[in-house]
Amino acid sequence: MDIQRFGVVGAGQMGNGIAHVAALTGFDVTLQDISAEQLERARKTIEGNLARQVKKERITSAAADEALARLHFSADNAPLADCQLIVEAATENVDLKFRIFEGLAKTAAPGAILASNTSSISITAIAAHTDRPESVIGMHFMNPVPVMKLVEIIRGLATSDETYQAVNAAAERMGKTTVLASKDMPGFIVNRVLMPYINEAVFALYEGIASVEDIDTAMKLGTNVPMGPLTLADFIGLDTCLAIMQVLHEGMGGDSKYRACPLLTKYVEAGWLGRKAGRGFYNYGGK
Ligand code: CAA
Repeated sequence: MDIQRFGVVGAGQMGNGIAHVAALTGFDVTLQDISAEQLERARKTIEGNLARQVKKERITSAAADEALARLHFSADNAPLADCQLIVEAATENVDLKFRIFEGLAKTAAPGAILASNTSSISITAIAAHTDRPESVIGMHFMNPVPVMKLVEIIRGLATSDETYQAVNAAAERMGKTTVLASKDMPGFIVNRVLMPYINEAVFALYEGIASVEDIDTAMKLGTNVPMGPLTLADFIGLDTCLAIMQVLHEGMGGDSKYRACPLLTKYVEAGWLGRKAGRGFYNYGGK
């Protein structure tokens, strides 16, 4: 299947990044969200990030203008009926994702591919909430989407070869390198490895082994990563980190290796969710 029309459901941090890159690489994009306010914020973010790429001479201003012209914003589902590939990028909540896919199964054209940007929820379970499990797949982008080169593709139990090939080709056209999680296991590849690492950094803080700054400096300079684990946790969102740890813990039969650190749970209870909340392990000028 040659994909031209691309739908994105959810206009948050990930959704606007996916829509941005898809429009920039020539797809005709509909970004859908139930909140008109969120859509307006997404439009401003995309315009700002495109302008940043123009300023850094990564793209021309003509390319940015063309990308904006290919982007459509919609508060209702109807325009998605025209899309050949729809990527869901809503909050990491199982029931919400099931509901969205039940809706997409009704709205999407027969044969359209339904992908989820979930970072850890079972693709097989999501697929069971549609009329077309063979056309459901995981297409997991990394944040910030315009910068990060990876798309992790996850095959559910029923995902067909055709679906996989079409989604892989679309991700490559978006300029991404793909990896395949051929088994639909909790956390797939990236979060199976990344989240226990972040969680362990929170345990190191919880146990008073070192300060926030020293844990981050140790890992940043000691292992040459762009962000220390606690900075990265704030960047991803502590609620998302906790949700992924819970999926890992539950999905791996309660293995204590995946137990979320109580301090991570406390921060989420406090609403200290990281950068987006103005406060997490660091203070970003929030209340
Ligand atoms: N849109 C477009 N361009 C952007 C951007 C955005 N949203 N954010 C940053 N950039 C660009 C900048 O313009 C800059 O471009 P040049 O290279 O052309 O100068 C470049 O990216 C670097 O940005 P900055 O100079 O502002 O800052 P930095 O050097 O500190 O980089 C960072 C910022 C790219 C976020 C870097 O710190 C980084 O790579 N951090 C790690 C991010 C990471 O690990 N992400 C994955 C998280 S896990 C995940 O997403 C999956 C999950 O399921 C949880």
